[in-house]
Amino acid sequence: MSDSNGSSRREFVKQTSLLAGGLIAAPAIGRTNYFSGADDTIKIALVGCGGRGTGAALQALLTKQNVKLVAMADAFRDNLDKCYKSLMADDLSDVNGAEGNVQKKVAVPEGNKFTGFDAYLKAIALADVVILATPPGFRPIHFAEAIRQNKHVFMEKPVATDTAGIKKVLETAALAKQKKLNVVVGLQRHYQNSYKELFKRKDQIGDITSAQAWWNNDGVWVRPRKPGQTEMEYQMRNWYYFVWLCGDHINEQHIHNLDVINWFKGGYPVKAQGMGGRQVRIGKEYGEIFDHHYVEFQYADGSILNSQCRHIPGTMSKVGVLLIGTKGKIQCGAANITDLSGKVLYQFDLKGENNAYQTEHDELFATIAKGEYKFADAENGARSTMTALLGRMATYSGQVIDWDKAINSNLNLQPEKYAWDASPRSMPDANGYYAIAVPGVLKYNI
Ligand SMILES: NC(=O)c1ccc[n+]([C@@H]2O[C@H](COP(=O)([O-])OP(=O)(O)OC[C@H]3O[C@@H](n4cnc5c(N)ncnc54)[C@H](O)[C@@H]3O)[C@@H](O)[C@H]2O)c1
Repeated sequence: MSDSNGSSRREFVKQTSLLAGGLIAAPAIGRTNYFSGADDTIKIALVGCGGRGTGAALQALLTKQNVKLVAMADAFRDNLDKCYKSLMADDLSDVNGAEGNVQKKVAVPEGNKFTGFDAYLKAIALADVVILATPPGFRPIHFAEAIRQNKHVFMEKPVATDTAGIKKVLETAALAKQKKLNVVVGLQRHYQNSYKELFKRKDQIGDITSAQAWWNNDGVWVRPRKPGQTEMEYQMRNWYYFVWLCGDHINEQHIHNLDVINWFKGGYPVKAQGMGGRQVRIGKEYGEIFDHHYVEFQYADGSILNSQCRHIPGTMSKVGVLLIGTKGKIQCGAANITDLSGKVLYQFDLKGENNAYQTEHDELFATIAKGEYKFADAENGARSTMTALLGRMATYSGQVIDWDKAINSNLNLQPEKYAWDASPRSMPDANGYYAIAVPGVLKYNI
């Protein structure tokens, strides 16, 4: 890296540290930051070393910048080891299809591998950029800590599972802006060429008056209970099925679609009502989440988003977004725009599609290497997560849920303490089953 780049980065951090609290923040940054001495490597810490964390770390290491993974944190040592092994693979084509390997960019000595609930604190301290890829229940505290420690962040979606978490992320997002710390959220459609080209041309369909969103497919993995696990360990392993960790599948996956519609609408819903339940995925291994949600979201201009997500094998599979305007329609999957009669007005050439998972890292790390401040995705990440939570609150309760009241409700699903012998709020009955939300009976305090 050239000296001029190095000095502009040094300048940037000096500025960042001043904004972050002056003399108190400066030495902390100086110790761990890539500008601090001869070494201008951008140091990365990975928090959450599962499937996506491994993928995101690889993508960060595959960028063109002078990057090194220096620390890893996971609740479980076996997951961390599996991730480390993947990152050290001789040939990445077995892991994520990329050519070659990133072995030389992985510099994580044994002492920088941290496990347990407080692992994130130690890993974050060693890095310039932090990748947050745990289940979303932890995102608010991990994000707050990364920004407190003046780190740039890549964090996966969703960014919370309850409204107390959303508030924390919004507060932290404001602080990140103030400190000029780049934050990218893994709502990668914002970095995907087809979506960006459609967005540029969205006015061709006039005013968007309604939208449809589908995330209907078979569902995901189950990690069965093993002998000797505490309840906390079991829920942490099988996290997808517990609301405090996952937020339900409307949050975990359907958020991508809800987010695209918010983006094209240029706003967020003001209220929602809907219906849902669990009809097929009813075993105790499926914890407490629903297997289907149908939600009618209403925006401030009265337009309606009809949203459906279902995890039931053997039913119609479809993941997509349709936006309907006064003059035409945008179909995101087919990447085209038509008039109301179906005549194609614009077709994105799918040969020009990119790997948005890679692009989001390329752009983030190029920006950091140049010492620039460009990305502030956290606020939208929080509001799109809130959209999904609004939908969940509507289907769980069967009531009309108002955005403003909901976001101020401070719904907090997190356990009183994070420890392997602590009790999550939702505990199984004598037969191992969990209480499931009953519409009409469950009352949110809003
Ligand atoms: N953008 C996308 O398209 C995309 C795709 C897949 C996953 N994701 C997101 O990535 C996140 C992780 O999903 P995944 O599929 O990798 O799950 P995973 O179960 O494979 O990995 C999660 C990892 O986090 C670890 N973990 C849990 N709690 C932790 C804590 N408190 N501290 C440190 N580590 C902890 C787990 O042990 C596990 O190794 C989710 O939010 C998911 O929505 C996004």
